[in-house]
Amino acid sequence: MDSAISVSAARPRQTAATVGELHLWDVVFDARVRTADVEQCFLADRDLPACIVRADGRILGVLSRKSLLAELSKPLGRDIYIKRPLSQLMAAIDTDPLVLPAETTIAAAVEHAVARPGERSYEPVLVERGASSGVLEVNVLMRMQASLLEQAVHAKDELLVEVQRTADELRTTLDTLEQARDRLVQSEKMAALGQLVAGVAHEINTPIGVALTASTHLGERTREFRQAFTENRMKRSDLQAYVDLAGDSAGLLHYNLQRAAKLIQSFKQVAVDQTSEQHRNFELRSYLEQLIASLAPEVRKAGHSLTMTCAEGIQLTSYPGALAQVLSNLVSNAIAHAYDRGTAGTIALTAVQDGGNVTLTVSDNGRGIAPENLSRIYDPFFTTKRGEGGSGLGLHIVFNIVTETLRGQITCQSTLGVGTSFTATIPLQIPQ
Ligand SMILES: Nc1ncnc2c1ncn2[C@@H]1O[C@H](COP(=O)(O)OP(=O)(O)OP(=O)(O)O)[C@@H](O)[C@H]1O
Ligand SMILES: [Mg+2]
Repeated sequence: MDSAISVSAARPRQTAATVGELHLWDVVFDARVRTADVEQCFLADRDLPACIVRADGRILGVLSRKSLLAELSKPLGRDIYIKRPLSQLMAAIDTDPLVLPAETTIAAAVEHAVARPGERSYEPVLVERGASSGVLEVNVLMRMQASLLEQAVHAKDELLVEVQRTADELRTTLDTLEQARDRLVQSEKMAALGQLVAGVAHEINTPIGVALTASTHLGERTREFRQAFTENRMKRSDLQAYVDLAGDSAGLLHYNLQRAAKLIQSFKQVAVDQTSEQHRNFELRSYLEQLIASLAPEVRKAGHSLTMTCAEGIQLTSYPGALAQVLSNLVSNAIAHAYDRGTAGTIALTAVQDGGNVTLTVSDNGRGIAPENLSRIYDPFFTTKRGEGGSGLGLHIVFNIVTETLRGQITCQSTLGVGTSFTATIPLQIPQ
């Protein structure tokens, strides 16, 4: 068959993205050939979907197997066309093809193809690939579109699996980090506890030691006293000396045992026992008023004044006892550390609600805290009043109560010569 030029096109590639990459049929007939020859060609190649028909060097149209057979099977169709030139049959039917440039994407081609009216939407399309053109079956186009979609879905699934894996890895890393952090916190706590125990032993050693010496001394003198008494050789001056010693010793014992007792009391508070605290609902302002009333005598005695600012109606569900302990400790500190003797200061307590929290501030206009001490004030046993009644446990206890019992935070701002202010922010509602 001279007039038919058949070129075998490349097999469709799995990854075809444009119509030019798909399998195209290149069977071309000249419009002058007999329709019988064309039919023969279609009968010989059962797969051939359509052919291109040319006339005078240009494309006249695309003749599909379906249109050809439909036309020939019409009454008299075969008689009219079979022995005549193909151009006559072409003139009788609509063979104007949808023409697509080779670089048209599969998705766009499908869209154009199915947009054609009715039956025509399944007619083959003509792809222009450089100088040559080829016919493309719509079902091939649709199969490729389906396979592309499938690949996209598959790629998405793979991506999802990858994302899932990354998320799992992240979670594991996070767990490890959290464990490491917990261990660190634990070991820090243990170290702090060790320090605390050593500190307790050291602190308590002094008053207990002094009391022990005093009681030993008193014991010895008492024995001598009893002996002199039994042997009837006691002088009046001996009696006087013993009574004086007994008085002194009792004083020493009392002072030092009291000091030891106070230390033990503080140590007990260091380990904040949350369960023993009373958890209840209370209105902040009235509670602070009561607290101020109980602190006022101490403040007045030291020659200072205490002010309080708090809006009415702030309701808390928390540990009022713990809060009172924090605030009275801070006020006591201001009295003890902020002012020189004879200076009249002003200590201000303010409470401001901020969303679900309340911010409590205790500030003084005293001497301030030296910058190098600021980072150590919460350390157990840090005090600038050693030997003058300071144990250095006050702020350590305050810190523990605020962060653990009251689930909040505390910060300190201080400027030498201007004053110090402690700010505790705690939630309004905390569970028991
Ligand atoms: N308002 C303040 N003004 C100046 N210095 C302060 C103030 N509050 C605390 N400090 C400093 O912080 C230190 C630590 O305070 P903390 O309450 O822990 O111990 P302390 O008051 O010395 O002893 P304790 O409270 O155990 O009797 C104090 O010794 C003092 O130097
Ligand atoms: Mg203190």
